Amino acid sequence: MKSNMAGEELMNKIVSLCKRRGFVYQNSEIYGGMANTWDYGPMGVELKMNIKNAWWKDFVRERENVVGLDSAIIMHPDIWKASGHLDSFNDALIDCKSCKSRFRADHIIEDAIGMDVEGKTAAEMTEIIHNEEIKCPVCGSKDWTDARLFNLMFKTFQGVVEDSSSVVYLRPETAQGIFVNFKNVVDTMRVSLPFGIGQIGKAFRNEITPGNFIFRTREFEQMELQFFVKPGEDDEWFAYWKKYAMDWLTGLGISAENLDYHDHSPEKLAHYSKATTDIIYKFPFGWEELWGIANRTNFDLSTHMEHSGKKMTYFDNESGEHIVPYVIEPSVGVDRLLLAFIVEAYTEDEVDGSTRVYLNLHPALAPVKAAVFPLSKKEPLVNMAREIYDKLKKVFNVEYDESGSIGRRYRRQDEIGTPYCITVDFDSIEDKKVTIRERNTLKQDRVEIDRVLDYLLERI
Ligand code: GAP
Repeated sequence: MKSNMAGEELMNKIVSLCKRRGFVYQNSEIYGGMANTWDYGPMGVELKMNIKNAWWKDFVRERENVVGLDSAIIMHPDIWKASGHLDSFNDALIDCKSCKSRFRADHIIEDAIGMDVEGKTAAEMTEIIHNEEIKCPVCGSKDWTDARLFNLMFKTFQGVVEDSSSVVYLRPETAQGIFVNFKNVVDTMRVSLPFGIGQIGKAFRNEITPGNFIFRTREFEQMELQFFVKPGEDDEWFAYWKKYAMDWLTGLGISAENLDYHDHSPEKLAHYSKATTDIIYKFPFGWEELWGIANRTNFDLSTHMEHSGKKMTYFDNESGEHIVPYVIEPSVGVDRLLLAFIVEAYTEDEVDGSTRVYLNLHPALAPVKAAVFPLSKKEPLVNMAREIYDKLKKVFNVEYDESGSIGRRYRRQDEIGTPYCITVDFDSIEDKKVTIRERNTLKQDRVEIDRVLDYLLERI
């Protein structure tokens, strides 16, 4: 039923479900809310953790040639000079002089005349906005300031003195923490090329126009892999990680028709990149970047070598040479991915003449794997249900619920995407069996109590 729903209507339903069922709350709500800032509730934090665990398992732990890292958010400020972020990590912003609204200049142009201006200077964008007589989307005025560059890094001070010598930045990507630890990992772990370093952590960008719920925010989490390869083998590994990331998404339930690749044209490439392909997803507000895969060449290791004066080379036993490896980087935002999984999973169908909403989440991602219900609050049903719950909770995140009608209990679990509901009824006392209902098909199986754990393990 989702396919017929307009994007805005679908987004409204998703935002409302996220709040109602404890996935995502408005941040600082009791103080009127902090714009474009969100908190994850009890269901959201489970879903987020399951996404991160799935990524860590498939990109780090189960791969012989990838190790993990957890680096600090605030790092030496020279890192951002070396990486190019201080000089180049900018967006052009422009203000409407009449209503004082502020916009990203590239968005204003793209929305008004459909022109892609990536790579153009602020002065060139100002000229386009004047020549094309583009109007302010809020008040319709054509009275603009000039576009000017705005660095996206959050700046703060370390220590008690607030002067230029104590300026530090919140990292805008986790990747630099990996690059500056490259030598540590090579010297302390038995890694040989090709090998990767993976990291999950917070990143911060002072976005001019955050929005679309948790899609673009100023504080977000990234899952990044820097995969180091010999120069000359980079194209092959670039193709490998593009496919691997795409297969990972479809393996976790995102349908291939809602995913695509988008190659960046040479003028759109970031300052460090030789080639970048985004995996894009069909969000309710349009096709947007979900996952960036970049060939960063040896830019980062070389620049850190130059700025720090420390050797960042790798000794290649085969050739007997010291080389600076190339890097292939698949980088994805956890929050954006969580939104894509919820959008994909949101389903409405009709049950007993009324609309039912359920999240068709992959069982590995579902926040709650099973819910246990006694049909009534009477003994011995409660005791039997509690025994099942106590056994299952050691293995999965499960819920116990004895309140309200069974129908309402099912609806709640459907909306949070619980794949299995287990009901202990009066027949259970005699036959020592329970009814297990599957979320999508509503199919019910009668299963011996002793077999419930195995039944779930076979399916989750
Ligand atoms: N280290 C490379 C890098 O950071 P990026 O394309 O700027 O590349 C990678 O970001 C991914 O991080 C994006 O594909 C997106 O999933 C996520 N991301 C970037 N900015 C974001 C924001 N403001 N809010 C939420 N997620 C964001």
